[in-house]
Amino acid sequence: MPYKRITLTHFLLQEQRRLGGSGAFTSLMNDILTACKMVSHEVNRGALVGNHGVAGTVNVQDEEQKPLDVLANDIFLHMNALGGNYAAMASEELEDVHAVKGSADGKYLLLFDPLDGSSNIDVNISVGSIFSILRLPEGADPNSANAFLQPGVQQVCAGYALYGSSTMLVLTTGNGVNGFTLDRDVGMFFLTHPNMTIPADTKEFAINASRARFWEAPVKRYVDECLAGKEGPRGKDFNMRWVASMVAEVHRILIRGGIFMYPADVENIKKGGKLRLMYEANPMSFIVEQAGGASTTGRQRLMEVPPTNLHQRVPVILGSKNEVERLEAYHREVGE
Ligand code: AHG
Ligand code: MN
Ligand code: MN
Repeated sequence: MPYKRITLTHFLLQEQRRLGGSGAFTSLMNDILTACKMVSHEVNRGALVGNHGVAGTVNVQDEEQKPLDVLANDIFLHMNALGGNYAAMASEELEDVHAVKGSADGKYLLLFDPLDGSSNIDVNISVGSIFSILRLPEGADPNSANAFLQPGVQQVCAGYALYGSSTMLVLTTGNGVNGFTLDRDVGMFFLTHPNMTIPADTKEFAINASRARFWEAPVKRYVDECLAGKEGPRGKDFNMRWVASMVAEVHRILIRGGIFMYPADVENIKKGGKLRLMYEANPMSFIVEQAGGASTTGRQRLMEVPPTNLHQRVPVILGSKNEVERLEAYHREVGE
C-alpha cells in the first residue's frame, strides 16, 4: 500500500517523541535530507549541466576535485547552516573547521564527505554522501578542530545517501538502521528498508586487488583462502566485487552481506591508511555495527580509534561479523 508508507520526516518525529527530544535533532536531519535531495538532483543531471569532468582544483588531501565534489560541498555547507543547529562543520573538501555564522546555540557538530566515490561520476556509477553528527562538548570551542576529535563511539547519528539506480538515505541514531527511498515525484524519502541487518556469514568480499603486492600477511592469507574456493580451507566458493564507492559497497553489504576491506598495506600505512576516519570510516562503522556487523582496523575496533586530526586516515575492514572476526584473528595470530 504505497500511500500507507511513512516519510523520513514522520519517522524522525516518532523517534523524537520516543526519546523526548527538543526537536533540534529532527530539524537538523531535515536540513541533511534536503541537502541530499539537492545533490541527488545534480548527480542525476550530470553532463547536461556541466557536472562531469574536472573542476581544475585540488583539495586539502591533494586530490583532484570534480565539479560535483565542489558543488555537493557547497550545498551541504549552505543547507545545514540554515537551521542553526550546528555549532560548526568539517568536510573532506575543507582543510579547516567551517564556523556556522549566527548559531551561538548550535549544540551539534557535522562532519561529511559530500561526494564519495567521485571517480565514478563520469562513468555513471553509484556515488554517495556520508555524514556523522557529534555533540559539541561542554565548553569546547566549536571553531577548533579539537571539538571534533571524538572517537566514533560518541557519534549521535550517522548516515549516507546513495545516488544509485534509486536514491536512498540510510541512517542510524544508535537504535538500529533504517533505509529510505526518494520518491522524486513527491520529493520525499519513504521508509522502504526498516531494521536493516547484515547476515553474519557471507560468500562475497570486496578489496582493490591491484594492491595485492603491498598487502600484509593476514590480508593475503584471508584473500588467498577465499580465492581457493571449495577446494581450499574455507570449503566454499566466494564471489568478488569492487565498486570504488564506499557508500555503494556498504549498501550492498547491508542488503546481502559481505566484507569490505581497505586494509593497511606497506604503502598506504605511511599515511595511516586510505580512507578517512572522521567522515568515512566512523560513520560507516556506526551503521555497520548497528546492523549487527563488525568494523575494525584489523587490530582494534574502528570506533575506538582516538582521533588526532580531522583528515586522519585509517585501515578499514567491515561487514559480516564472522568474516571480520576471522580476519582480526589472522592479525592476532601473526602478532600484528
Ligand atoms: P572519495 O571519492 O570521497 O575521495 O572516496 C573514495 C574512496 C572510497 O569511496 C572508495 O572505497 C575508495 O576511495 C576507492 O579507492 P581506489 O581508487 O583505491 O579503488
Ligand atoms: Mn569518500
Ligand atoms: Mn569525497
